[in-house]
Amino acid sequence: MSTKNTETIAPQTTTPQTTVGIDRISFATPHYYLNLTDLANARGIDPNKFTIGIGQSEQSVPPNHQDIVTLAAEAAHPLLPHIDSNRLKMLIVGTESGVDASKSSALYVQNLLKLTPWVRCIEVKEACYGGTAALMMACDYVRAHAEKDPQVLVIAADIARYGLATPGEVTQGAGAVAMLVSTNPHVLKINDDSVVKSADIQDFWRPVYQDTALARGKFSTEQYIQFFCDVWQKYCAQNNCNFNDFAGLCFHLPYTKMGLKALKAAMDSCDNTCNATNTCNATNLSESSRKCLLSRYETSTKYSRRVGNIYTGSLYLGLLSLLELDGLELDGCTHENSELPPLKSGDKIGLFSYGSGAVGEFFSATLVPGFKEALFAREHADMLDSRVRLSVADYEAMFSSVAPYAPEDFVSDTSHRERAHFFLDGISSQERHYRSN
Ligand code: CAA
Repeated sequence: MSTKNTETIAPQTTTPQTTVGIDRISFATPHYYLNLTDLANARGIDPNKFTIGIGQSEQSVPPNHQDIVTLAAEAAHPLLPHIDSNRLKMLIVGTESGVDASKSSALYVQNLLKLTPWVRCIEVKEACYGGTAALMMACDYVRAHAEKDPQVLVIAADIARYGLATPGEVTQGAGAVAMLVSTNPHVLKINDDSVVKSADIQDFWRPVYQDTALARGKFSTEQYIQFFCDVWQKYCAQNNCNFNDFAGLCFHLPYTKMGLKALKAAMDSCDNTCNATNTCNATNLSESSRKCLLSRYETSTKYSRRVGNIYTGSLYLGLLSLLELDGLELDGCTHENSELPPLKSGDKIGLFSYGSGAVGEFFSATLVPGFKEALFAREHADMLDSRVRLSVADYEAMFSSVAPYAPEDFVSDTSHRERAHFFLDGISSQERHYRSN
């Protein structure tokens, strides 16, 4: 008798794909800013270099009671009504300007926000990429435990400091972006399609004994562009897509000219490849898509142009700028991006994250129905518009009054506390003391 293979194949069960992404997103920046034309004049530099060549108009300046802990707490504060203590499972802070080499800043933030103790609190570091690493970990966690409907709070918080009268001074800034990650998000779905590249290079770093960064400026910009071109090409091949599939592209923005350089480099190389080899689909970059992506890129840079580099948060500040300003009424008769239809649910946004050292990642997100109503656009406009302009002398004094990277006691100023909810009161015996009002 012949033996027949009687192995039975289990019937396929189709589990519906769980939607995971950003449920709420909010940012915070200090209440004080420096006008970069004032800075250029004080440094004897043509202001056009800063406003056109670099693409920055203003930069936020933190008073010395604000550090990445208090900025992180400020950013997450508006999300509190949406956080469910029973569902919150992780708080991850991405930062490259952390306040302690050992203790996670997430623990200070947890305390300031009075969050549940039944939560994993950690800090993630990889230069400006830390926020994206945290976001990816959050999405993976929520996908893996979707049946329990968990929430993860991700905060990307940084203060970018290069030093007075350095080449990097014009690219300083301060702020934080908080993102609540969950299933069935109200803002956007993060697609599981990312491409990431890592390489040990020395373009930008900060030794643990100092609070200002060291950078090989030109080298860092070249590496940023190369990383974008590399991950973009691999992403398109892996996901069988091209520029025309995106309603907008957002970039890590150390300064607003940087993302544009990378975008144009990839668009030009796409043109050259199409023309020279005719191997790729000729519709890889249609004229209408080029115009749309460049126009929406401009919109994505508006907040950063006023805030400056916020390192790990800057990609997400760009995303917020695009989502909140797209279609916004400008002067009663024209709208931001008025030549384009407003962004709508189902539109795909591409995001490029770059952290020196270096890691580059490209991934996409899809807008969900009603996303505009889940944003804090009015609050963010008010936060930016109500900031106080500092003279260059006042900026220099504020910059230099920061808590020292040394075992000395420190007491923060009691002035410049308007609008803040959380404060670093001081440091005694090498321990930091925070307070909420
Ligand atoms: N009018 C108009 N444009 C002018 C001008 C003028 N009068 N004078 C100069 N410019 C233009 C230049 O032509 C140049 O434009 P292109 O780059 O398009 O050629 C631009 O202004 C900048 O001029 P320089 O290159 O001479 O500027 P710089 O030597 O002072 O350095 C910098 C600029 C490298 C960005 C410097 O600010 C820096 O080191 N910043 C910190 C490092 C950094 O941000 N790197 C970015 C990539 S790394 C990263 O992304 C991680 C991160 O967040 C740090």
